[in-house]
Amino acid sequence: MIIAFNHKSNLKREEYLNYLQDISKIITDHTLIICPSFINISNPYPNNIHIGSQNVSRYNSGAHTGEISVQQLKSYNVEYSLVGHSERRMEQGETDETINKKIKLLLENNIAPILCVGESRQERSTGKTEEVLQRQIEMATKDLNKNDQKKIIIAYEPTWAIGTGLIPSNRDIKKSIIFIKKQLPMSSVLYGGSVNEENIEIIKKISEIDGYLLGGLSLRVDKIKKFLSKV
Ligand code: PGA
Repeated sequence: MIIAFNHKSNLKREEYLNYLQDISKIITDHTLIICPSFINISNPYPNNIHIGSQNVSRYNSGAHTGEISVQQLKSYNVEYSLVGHSERRMEQGETDETINKKIKLLLENNIAPILCVGESRQERSTGKTEEVLQRQIEMATKDLNKNDQKKIIIAYEPTWAIGTGLIPSNRDIKKSIIFIKKQLPMSSVLYGGSVNEENIEIIKKISEIDGYLLGGLSLRVDKIKKFLSKV
C-alpha cells in the first residue's frame, strides 16, 4: 500500500530531526511517503522513506518570489507531490486550471502527482459527490494522454472529514472510490480524512483502497507504528 504523510505546517526543526530518527527504525513493506513542510524538506532521509512535497509552483524556476519550482523539488529527490489539497483549494484559492498546470509540470519532471479530490459537506448533502469528483478529475487531467493519466495517484478526501474526526461510512467511501476508478482505471486511489490507528480496523475492510493519506496521525511516530501494525 501507499501510505502518505501530510505534515502540513507542523514540526519545528528539532522536532522534525527527532521524528526522522524515530521513523528510520520502522520496517514495513508499504511505501511510506513523507510530505513535510517545505522548510524541512532538505534533510537526509532514511532509506525506508520516499520524499513528497505538499505543493509545487505552477511556474518553472525563475522570478517567482516565495514559490518552490518543480526543478528545485527534483534536485532534492522529491518523488511525489500533493496537488489540489482542499486546504489549498479553500485557503489559497487554488483552481482546477492551476492544478492541471501543476500536474503537467510534475509529470514532465517524473514526479508522481497525488491529486486530492473530495466533496464538501454541502455537496454531499445535496447529492453532488460524484458530480464534484468527476469535475475535479476531468479538469485536473485535461489534455493528458492515457500514459500520463495512469501515473497520477488520487487521494479521495471528503473535505468535511479532514481533521474533524468524522468519516463517511464504508459503503460511501467504497462507492466514491469505485466511481474514481471508473474515471481513472489505472490509478491508485488513497483514502484520507481523519484516519487513525483505531478506525483503520474498519476502513481497511474496503478492498478497493490502495493506500492512505494521513494528516494528524502522521505527526506521531508511536501512532504510525500502531497504524502500520493494523493496516
Ligand atoms: P487528517 O488530514 O488525517 O488530519 O484528517 C488528512 C489530510 O488533510 O490530508
